[in-house]
Amino acid sequence: MPKFYITTPIYYVTDKPHLGNAYPTIVADVLARWHRLRGDDVYFLVGTDEHGEKVETAAKAAGKAPKEFVDSIVGVYRDVWSKLSISYDVFVRTSSPAHEAVVAQVIDKMARSGDIYVGNYEGWYCLPDESFWTDLQLINGKCPICGREVKKLKEETYFFRLSRYQDRLLKFYDDRPAFLSPKLRSKEIINRVKDGLRDVSITRTTVKWAVPFPMDKKHYVYVWVDALCNYISALGWPDGDKFGEFWPADVHLVGKEINWFHSVIWPAMLFSAGIEPPKMVFAHGWWTADGKKMSKSLGNFVDITGLADKYSVDAVRYTLLREMPLGDDGDFSEKTMITRLNNELVAELGNLVNRALTIAEKFDDKIEGTPELDAKLDIEKIDNAMLELDTFGALNEIFAYIRVANKYVNDKEPWKLHGKELSQVLYNLLESIRIISVLISPFMPDTGKRLSEQLGVEQGKLSDCKFGAFNGKPKRGAYLFRKVQTTE
Ligand code: MSP
Repeated sequence: MPKFYITTPIYYVTDKPHLGNAYPTIVADVLARWHRLRGDDVYFLVGTDEHGEKVETAAKAAGKAPKEFVDSIVGVYRDVWSKLSISYDVFVRTSSPAHEAVVAQVIDKMARSGDIYVGNYEGWYCLPDESFWTDLQLINGKCPICGREVKKLKEETYFFRLSRYQDRLLKFYDDRPAFLSPKLRSKEIINRVKDGLRDVSITRTTVKWAVPFPMDKKHYVYVWVDALCNYISALGWPDGDKFGEFWPADVHLVGKEINWFHSVIWPAMLFSAGIEPPKMVFAHGWWTADGKKMSKSLGNFVDITGLADKYSVDAVRYTLLREMPLGDDGDFSEKTMITRLNNELVAELGNLVNRALTIAEKFDDKIEGTPELDAKLDIEKIDNAMLELDTFGALNEIFAYIRVANKYVNDKEPWKLHGKELSQVLYNLLESIRIISVLISPFMPDTGKRLSEQLGVEQGKLSDCKFGAFNGKPKRGAYLFRKVQTTE
C-alpha cells in the first residue's frame, strides 16, 4: 500500500486560528482525505509551535506563565480543527518532553558532524516572524517578510554551519526537482542558495521559554530549529515504527514566507544529522485583505469559525479551494464566497441533486440502464491533478462534470419520461451523483456524507468511481446548501 505523510506548519499558539492559518490545514486535510480515498496509508500531522519569544511575550501580555498560556490555547486549536472537519492523525506539541528530547538529540548529531560552533550574533530580529536578518536583507529598515519593525540583537550564540551545505543543497535540488514546489518558487530559492549561505544562529541566551541547549546551560534553542524537528519527533524518531513507516515526508505544506526555513535550513539540518530529507516542500500563497497578507497582528484577518457558523464548514472549505490555485495569492471576501455558494453549491451541485432525487424517490421500479455520461468524466485526470497538489484543477474538473450532469437533466427532461426511458436517465444521474459524492468528499466531507446518505449508498472509495449497477435507495433529505439572500 503506498504511504502518504503530509504535514502543515505548526502554528504559534498566540491566539485562535484565523482564515489565513486555517488555510494550509484545510488544504492538507483535502489532500490527506484524497489519498485515503485512493486506499493509501496516510499519516497527517498538525501541531503547535509553543516556544520562543513571540509566545513568551503573548503569555506575559495575558498575565500567564508560558506553559499555562499555551495549554489554554492548544485546546482552542483542537476545537477549531475539529469544527473545520480536519482529519489529522496526530497533533504534535513542541512543549512536550518527547519532542524536546528529539530536538536535543538532533542537535547532538549536528554537533558530532562538526557543524555547531560558538560565536557572537549581531544583527536584526523580527519578533512576529521569529527570524534573524542582516542589514542588507532589511527593506527600508524593516522585516523583508512582514514589513514590520525589527530590533537589534547582540548576543553570544551557537551557530550552525549552513554555509557548508551550499553545494550539497544545490545538487539535491538538481537531483530532486519536485522538492522545491511549486516550480515558480524554485528559482528564487536556488538563486539565493547560489548567492552564498551564511551560518545561522541556533541559540538565544535571552529567551528562556525554549528547549535548553544541550551543549551549554546558558543557551536555549532557537525556536525555528526546535519547530522544524516536529516533523520527525511526531513519528518517534529515531526508533519509532512510524518513523520507519512514514519518513521521508511526502509533502511539507508551508506558507511562502517560511519556505526558506523548510527548503534550505531544514534539509541542511537533516544532512548534518544524517537523516534523509523530505520529498517535497510545497510553498503556498497568501490570503490577503486589500492586497495585504491577512494576519492577526495587522488585524485584517477573517474569523473562520464565524464564517463557518454563518455559511457552513463545507461552503468555507469549498471557497478556499475553488477561489485560488494552491501557490497563488488572492484577496478573500465574504461577497465572493456568497456568490460561489449561490451560483455553484446551490445552483449547480444542489440543483442537480435536488432534481434527480425528487424524481428518483417517486420511481417505484428498479433503477437500471446503460452508461451515457461516463465518457465525460476523466477520473484519472482528476486523480493526477490531486497527486500534483492541483486541488484547484481537480475541483474545476469535478464541477465541470456536475455541469455536464445538469445539462443532461435539461436535455432529457426526465419529468416528462416514464418506465424504461425514465429509468435510463435516472440510472445515469444517480450513478453520476454517487461518483460526485465520492469525489467531493475530501473537499466537503459533510456534503459527501449527506449525499451518499440521500442516495442510500455506502460512501465509496476512488476505485468505486466508475459506472456500475446503482444499488441505492434514494431519499431526498434536507437541501445540501441554502441560497444566501443578498441586498444586491
Ligand atoms: N510557527 C511557524 C511555523 C513553524 S513550521 C515548523 C509559523 N507559524 S504561524 O502561526 O505564523 O503560521 C504560519 C502559517 O500560517 C504560514 O506558513 C502559512 O502557511 C499560514 N498563514 C498565515 N497567514 C496566512 C495568510 N494570510 N494566508 C495564507 N496562509 C497564511 O510561521
